[in-house]
Amino acid sequence: MDAEEIRKKISALTQTLKDHNYRYYVLAEPVISDLEFDRMLKELEYLEKEYPQYVLPDSPTRTVGGGLTNEFVSVPHRRRMLSLGNTYNEEELRDFDERVRKVTGDAVEYVCELKIDGLAISLFYENGQLVQAVTRGDGVSGDDVTMNVKTIRSVTPQLHGDYLPSFEIRGEIFMHRKGFEKLNAERISNGDTPYANPRNVAAGSLKIKDVAEVARRPLDITLYHLLVDEMPFDTHFDAIQKHARSWGLKVADSTRLCRNVEEVLAYLHEWDKKRHDLSFDTDGVVIKVNSLRMQEELGFTAKVPRWAIAYKFQTESALTTLLGISYQVGRTGAITPVAELKPVFLLGTTVKRASLYNADEIERLDVRPGDMVFIEKGGEIIPKVTGVDFSKREPGTEPVRYISHCPECGTELVRHEDEALHYCPNEDGCPPQVVGKIEHFVARKAMDISSIGSQMATKLYEAGLVRKVSDLYKLQASDFTDWPGMGEKSIQNLLSGVEQSREIPFERVLFALGIRHVGETVAKKLAGAFRNVEALEKAGVEELTAVPEIGTVIAESVVDWFARPAHRQMLEELKQAGLQLEKAAGGEPVSSKLQGLTFVISGVFSRFSRDEAKDLIERNGGKCAGSVSSKTNYLLAGEGMGPAKLQKAEDLGVKLLSEEDFLAMLGDTASESGKAEASQTLLF
Ligand code: IVH
Repeated sequence: MDAEEIRKKISALTQTLKDHNYRYYVLAEPVISDLEFDRMLKELEYLEKEYPQYVLPDSPTRTVGGGLTNEFVSVPHRRRMLSLGNTYNEEELRDFDERVRKVTGDAVEYVCELKIDGLAISLFYENGQLVQAVTRGDGVSGDDVTMNVKTIRSVTPQLHGDYLPSFEIRGEIFMHRKGFEKLNAERISNGDTPYANPRNVAAGSLKIKDVAEVARRPLDITLYHLLVDEMPFDTHFDAIQKHARSWGLKVADSTRLCRNVEEVLAYLHEWDKKRHDLSFDTDGVVIKVNSLRMQEELGFTAKVPRWAIAYKFQTESALTTLLGISYQVGRTGAITPVAELKPVFLLGTTVKRASLYNADEIERLDVRPGDMVFIEKGGEIIPKVTGVDFSKREPGTEPVRYISHCPECGTELVRHEDEALHYCPNEDGCPPQVVGKIEHFVARKAMDISSIGSQMATKLYEAGLVRKVSDLYKLQASDFTDWPGMGEKSIQNLLSGVEQSREIPFERVLFALGIRHVGETVAKKLAGAFRNVEALEKAGVEELTAVPEIGTVIAESVVDWFARPAHRQMLEELKQAGLQLEKAAGGEPVSSKLQGLTFVISGVFSRFSRDEAKDLIERNGGKCAGSVSSKTNYLLAGEGMGPAKLQKAEDLGVKLLSEEDFLAMLGDTASESGKAEASQTLLF
């Protein structure tokens, strides 16, 4: 390629990737696979590295860091960033409606929006480009956090359509609960203190100096307030839901136009129930007068607009007695203190236990057995203790002394510096840890032995049959002869599940071992870099950290794991059992032949396992889904496939694909890769 061609290629890739980012993060309607996206991104990264003179300022590779750091400059707001008046009850809401109607006359339309619990942000767009992002600060001036905000995938850097040449738009930056929980799980497994709630993380994330770190935080945005010197639109609803949306900006889907206060109340009731099903936290509803002319007429008090109000949902809490504190031991040995409560009814269920998180939380709350404590459900499913009613505390109680030894095996607990959690270090001998390891090993994403569930794992452990995962491969039918409820069929089922797992690929075996910090992604990286378990076993911290994205914490954990003689012995047994302890040839993408196609795999096949079929689909650019839906293109049908799947496929007109059809579909992929004649050879 000559210089001009390279420049054009970089520019085209930049545009295409930005377009896909928009489809993925704003519209939530991706049209290409993640794999295809990553491949294009990698190509762009490569070209940009080779030809830095052609890098475009809005390149999607930039939005994930690139060594940029922030200086947060305080800037004055062009228009003050005000807060909202709050109400917790319907009476006050009706009063608000009356106040509004006194000024505007009878017919008032309201717009109801969910009040997202995040942090307010103000974005400036000039000629379709995002030029500045400022936090609320004290309402008069805030911090310029433009670079950090640009890393958020749902923030549109370049508008399209018929946008206004210059405007400000405000909204909320927040984090979905799933992302928050994942981040916290990572923090816990990295030994960091977990964050208290998604709002705090979102706020904290925007203040991080390292842009690459911010880019790793799964933040999202919803925009809800358009401000412009000469407003060409008549209503708030049109400005946001029609126009801002059409320019490619991320606005809420749950917004509703209401013709009167009764309809507003209906919206409140509806979302008070439904809000727990949302993927993010909402603490109420914002009610706004729709007409912008009326908004102007109503104006502001010293602090808040008269044309809007926030209705806050009641946080459901209950008061009950703390009977005691018990301690749970998890798979990794992490200890979680649990409040044992006098049963109390809260939001449809009877609560008997609540999480106390860690020793710091117990100290912070200063909870003591016998106290009357407040319980809340928040957005989480597991209730938590949020406070103590100190007025009811009996005299003479003592602060809780955190346990020093494992409640299950008696081993002395450890707590590393700066870690929030205590751990039981007896990982190979502490019963819940061993059972947890078995459960993890057989899990679907690991060895996928579905015939062993949680109860069976416990039974196998308690019967002394399985004390480490390699014992699973020594099980025999005769071990179960006197087991109540285990007929011949169940025994065969269990054993054949174990048998089939011998074919599970190396990276999943590595994940299944449950090495601390080695999740699915890390396992894939390690398997790809070291190819077999011997090479991994020999690797030192330095070699491990040479692998992209493997840091010292992971490296040290891997080295520690392999250093234990018990683990080496177990690996030897797994090797004897015939598990895949080296990476099969191939594994890289081979074509984009199946790009844009979604498959559902059902039944068994004679020439490949289901996992191999999945692998083959993904390596050729396709996607696999668990169940048949209108988005499914093909049902790859093997022997004995489920009748329900078949029926659904027929109902939805999804095409059935036999083993032969499937291989024929990929036919020339095999020759393209120059590796083999029959496509199935690609896999092995
Ligand atoms: S309108 C002058 N709409 O709640 C109008 N605010 O308690 C100001 N918030 O500062 C804001 N969702 O950070 C508005 N749909 C929404 C909102 C919303 C969340 C936040 C925002 C605001 C605070 C007021």
